[in-house]
Amino acid sequence: MKKLIMSLLTSAMVLSMAACGSAPASGNTDQSGDFTTAVAGKLTMATNAAFPPYEYLESGEITGIDAEIAAAIADKLGLELQIDDMEFDSITETIKGGKADIGLAGMTITPDRQEEVDFTVSYATGIQVIIVTEDSAITSVDDLLAEGANHVVGVQRNTTGDIFTTGDIEEAGKGTVDRYSKGADAVQALKTGKVDCVVIDNEPAKAFVAEVEGLKILETEYVIEDYAAAMSKDNPALYEAVNTALQELIDDGTIQGIIDKYINAN
Ligand code: ARG
Repeated sequence: MKKLIMSLLTSAMVLSMAACGSAPASGNTDQSGDFTTAVAGKLTMATNAAFPPYEYLESGEITGIDAEIAAAIADKLGLELQIDDMEFDSITETIKGGKADIGLAGMTITPDRQEEVDFTVSYATGIQVIIVTEDSAITSVDDLLAEGANHVVGVQRNTTGDIFTTGDIEEAGKGTVDRYSKGADAVQALKTGKVDCVVIDNEPAKAFVAEVEGLKILETEYVIEDYAAAMSKDNPALYEAVNTALQELIDDGTIQGIIDKYINAN
């Protein structure tokens, strides 16, 4: 009997403690109480603002397709948007650790990343392309992957351009991969002859080539990918809310409208 009372008391205590715990301790529950975010009342987006037209700096402000998509999601959820700029290869860890709510960075869904984070529905397609100098002997993906090939390939560190060329070229003994913190730095290395080509997503490739003279993008497509937002596996309520909002924005044409603003459909 004593034992039973003890255990009843204990469970009552546990219950009341749990009740305390569920109160918004730091106030980071949204008004509806349905989900929590990293910062009260805010949707925090982790990105790498060196990837035009998805995210880039314009007079000190982070702008671009992903920034506008995040703003539209935040709006739907009644949250204020905060954007944190960081190295591309810090985004996954930041999301995993709950320091930001949503990783939005032209990020490709890959099986390895899916072990670390959950991806929302895909909102855009990316294509890995090859940038070369106008007089380059490299004319296609096949030239890079050919037996006996030996090129130096520039990439942005830890992007899929890095991951794929590391496997297909470096580890296959067909050349080396030079990794840069920014895509634009890899493009500068191409311009100055430090690398023979750059492998990067097609839209930033167009933006970089427009800025630097004497470069071109090869017609050949290396890999076709799906972009999505990365979110923590530990916050299913927020994942649900964001994913639903994003799906609605896709369905009502808002996302396409944002993309068309930055990318001329032709
Ligand atoms: N799509 C590529 C990837 O996921 C490159 C993304 C780079 N994004 C950026 N904001 N720098 O790996």
